[in-house]
Amino acid sequence: MTETVLVGVGGGIAAYKSISLCSQLVKQGLRVRVVMTPNAQRFVQPLTFQSITHEPVLTDVFSEPNAQEIAHIAWADLASVYVIAPATADLIGKLAAGIADDPVTTVALAVQAPILIAPSMNVHMWFNKAVKENISLLEKRGILVLTPNSGPLACGYNGPGRLPEPEEIAAQVVHLIRRSRDLVGLHLLITAGPTVEDLDPVRFLSNASSGKMGYALAEAGIARGAEVTLVSGPVHLNPVVGARVIGVRSTQQMLTAVMQHWSKADVLIAAAAPADFRPVSPLAQKWKKSDGVPVLALEPTPDILANATAVKKIGQSVVGFAAETRDLVKYGMDKLERKKLDLVVINDVTEPGAGFAGDTNHVILLRRNGTLQDIPLVSKRVVADAILDEVINLRTAQDFVVGAQET
Ligand code: PMT
Repeated sequence: MTETVLVGVGGGIAAYKSISLCSQLVKQGLRVRVVMTPNAQRFVQPLTFQSITHEPVLTDVFSEPNAQEIAHIAWADLASVYVIAPATADLIGKLAAGIADDPVTTVALAVQAPILIAPSMNVHMWFNKAVKENISLLEKRGILVLTPNSGPLACGYNGPGRLPEPEEIAAQVVHLIRRSRDLVGLHLLITAGPTVEDLDPVRFLSNASSGKMGYALAEAGIARGAEVTLVSGPVHLNPVVGARVIGVRSTQQMLTAVMQHWSKADVLIAAAAPADFRPVSPLAQKWKKSDGVPVLALEPTPDILANATAVKKIGQSVVGFAAETRDLVKYGMDKLERKKLDLVVINDVTEPGAGFAGDTNHVILLRRNGTLQDIPLVSKRVVADAILDEVINLRTAQDFVVGAQET
C-alpha cells in the first residue's frame, strides 16, 4: 500500500521550497497531500501543490473537498508522517499551545503519525526565548524538530533560520516511514512502573517510578510495528493502544508475568523499578498506632532480570536499566556483567529532568564491548526510539547471544 505523507505549509517565504519537497516525496513513490495555512496561500498558490502531487490541497477546514468525509480527520488518519515545512514562529507557538485555528494546526492535533517540523524564520526570532521554549515543549511531546540551516536569510540577516534543504527534509521523512515498520515481526516484552510490597492492608513499600519510560518504549515499539507485551506495576497512565498490558502489583507478580511471556518474546526491556525488598510477613490487619512503632523484617524480592537471563535462548536479547546516582558507567558496567545483559541503559536519577517521574530522560547506552552512546536530555519517547534503534543494531551484531542457551 502506498504510504501517505501530509505536508503542512506555513506562511513564510520558504514556502516555495515546499514545492521541491513535495516533488521529491512524490518521486520516492509516496502519496503526498498538502495542507496550507491561509498565509501560506499568500506565498504559493494551492494549484501549484495540486499540480505537483496530483492530489487535492486542504486550504480551509470549513470547505470540505469531499462531502463523504471530514477532511482534517480523514487526512490525519491516512498519514504515515506529517511534516510541517516551513514551520513559522507563529505556527510553532500555536502547536505548543494546542491551538487549532487553521488547516495545518487542526490536522496536527488529529494526526497519530510522527510529526516532523522544519522551522524557518529570522535569526532573532529563532533565538527568541518564547520560540526556544515552544520548541523545547514540542520536543518533549515527541515532535521531531529539524535544526534550521545557517546562511543568508530573506530578511537580509545572516545566521540560523534557513529552512533545511528539501533533500534533507525528504530524507528524514523517508527515514521515519522506514522506521514505522522496522520492528515488524519482533515481540518486545517490556516492564514498566514501580512494584508495591504491602506491609499491611493500608501501607506499602514502593518507589517514585511513574511508568513513563516503560510506556514510552511500548508506544515506540507499537509505532514501529512490534508486538508488545507490557508488564506494568501500578501507574496513572493511559493503557498503550495496541499493546498487551498486564497489570501487576508486587515484584513476585511482575516476575511471574514476565516468565509467562518471556519464552514467546524476542527482546526483554526492563524499564520497571521493582521493589528490591519486601516484608517477611505482611500483616493481614492494619497495624494500629496504639500497637507502637513496628519493627520491619525485610527480605530481598526475586531478581526478574536474573531469572529471565537464566533461561535466555539463542535469538533473545535482554536490555536492562540502571538507576544510578554516581559512577554511572562503573555501576552500569557492573550491572551489564552481573545480570548478563546485552545492553544497559544508565540514567542518573539525581539529574534534574532525568530518571523518575518526568517526561524527559538523559541516558547512556552501554554496550557489551564497552562503547557508550550518550542520549542527551530529551523526551522519554525520543529516548525510547534511541533504545529501540540500538536493539536493532545489537540484534544485527553477533553479541546478542551472550548467556543464551541452545533450546
Ligand atoms: O518510570 P519512570 O518514572 O519513567 O522512571 C524511569 C526509571 C527511572 C524507573 C527507569 O528509567 C529506570 O531506571 N528503571 C530501572 C530502575 C531500577 O530498578 O534500577 P536498578 O538499577 O535498581 O535495577 C537494575 C535493573 O534490574 C533494572 O532493569 C530493573 O528493572 C531490574 N530489576 C530490579 C530489581 C528486581 N528485583 N528485578 C529486576 O529485574
